[in-house]
Amino acid sequence: MRTIALDYSGILRNINEKDIYEMIDSNRDMLSCILHCEGKDSDVLGWVDIDICANELLIREIEQKAAEIREKADVFLLIGVGGSNQGARAVIESMGDGKPEIIYAGNNLSPDYLNRVMNKIKGKSIYVNVIAKNFATLEPGIVFRVVRNYMEEVYGVEEAGKRIIATGSLNNSSLEILGKQKGYTLLPFPLDVGGRYSVLTAVGLLPIAVGGTDIREILAGAKDMKKTIQSAALHENPAVLYGAIRNVLLEKGYHIEILAYFEPLLYYFSKWWVQLFGESEGKDGKGIFPTACSFSEDLHSLGQYIQDGQKIIFETFLHLEDQGAAYTIPSGKEDVDGFAYIEGKDFTYLNEVAYEATVKAHSEGGIPCIVLNIPKLTPYYMGQLFYFFKYACYISGSILGINPFDQPGVEAYKNNMFKVLKPF
Ligand code: PA5
Repeated sequence: MRTIALDYSGILRNINEKDIYEMIDSNRDMLSCILHCEGKDSDVLGWVDIDICANELLIREIEQKAAEIREKADVFLLIGVGGSNQGARAVIESMGDGKPEIIYAGNNLSPDYLNRVMNKIKGKSIYVNVIAKNFATLEPGIVFRVVRNYMEEVYGVEEAGKRIIATGSLNNSSLEILGKQKGYTLLPFPLDVGGRYSVLTAVGLLPIAVGGTDIREILAGAKDMKKTIQSAALHENPAVLYGAIRNVLLEKGYHIEILAYFEPLLYYFSKWWVQLFGESEGKDGKGIFPTACSFSEDLHSLGQYIQDGQKIIFETFLHLEDQGAAYTIPSGKEDVDGFAYIEGKDFTYLNEVAYEATVKAHSEGGIPCIVLNIPKLTPYYMGQLFYFFKYACYISGSILGINPFDQPGVEAYKNNMFKVLKPF
């Protein structure tokens, strides 16, 4: 199998390759440790070893539970926020088979949204997966209370218990205690894995399997990417190069990175990526601001700014070499719309031409353009992408000199909120 390939030739009109190598060389010892210490003795690097977080026993348990849910549920309610649901959603929304319907909750406090969710699940066969590392976040915690009450009313406590899966820290957390009292299926949220690094643990894998995607394929892709990253020499290592390039670009004044793609199915993947890099690197007054664009649509909005606005942006394109689908342009009876010149061509070709034209225009407009060539949007390559970006984020954040695994800034809004909600 091929690996996704990093092509940074497009940025060499903006920065020198020498600067990238210098960035790598000046961090050589740290990078070697990052690549070869395997996260030993760390309380945040559990995700590095895929076989521990997703061991055979756990995979089988997940597959069994997912099969039961797929057979019995009309709706699977996924309660979680941030790292607790983004990874799974990225896969479900891009390659899930839509059976059962998957509804997301606990990621906002909107009463309107909650009313819609509760109305939608009425009368349907429901299974629930509540995912919360420490069960201390208000949004999923309080929405789960609503849902739990509903489930117990409709099914009775015992049957409700059988239909609820709680994924949380198994260290006597309140979710674990509640789960044991009520008879929930308990799945581990590894203590040494933070939310945004958790997609390849039970956190992401159960909902992904419920969505109908083969989790073994995802894990196979991740493991192959792990091998690539941990064996490649520093100057040829895609995760090291990407991490170093980001830091060189930041030093040169490129403060914003856009993850750009021409396949709208990647929308939720881009949200996962934004969260990964935003929450990992935006701290101590540092960090690249990560955002995402779905092209062609956003060429008709932010495209103007990218092309002609301040030169503080660089782009990372997710380029699908095989778009996995085709649609031939039909011939018109008369050429009223004036598009006869592309009759008989395929949308695959149009989309590729649009991609090439965009990279050319943006590069010529002074925007550094990095490309990640992805053979095809499949579970296997999704696994590669997840692992690649997690490792690259770890590397990039470490070069930046911040801790890529905490998120102290998130507490500020929570503190203000709890001062009002819980004044004693
Ligand atoms: O990446 C992270 O650690 C965060 O985004 C968390 O996933 C998010 O805040 C939700 O936390 P919890 O699972 O404790 O509800």
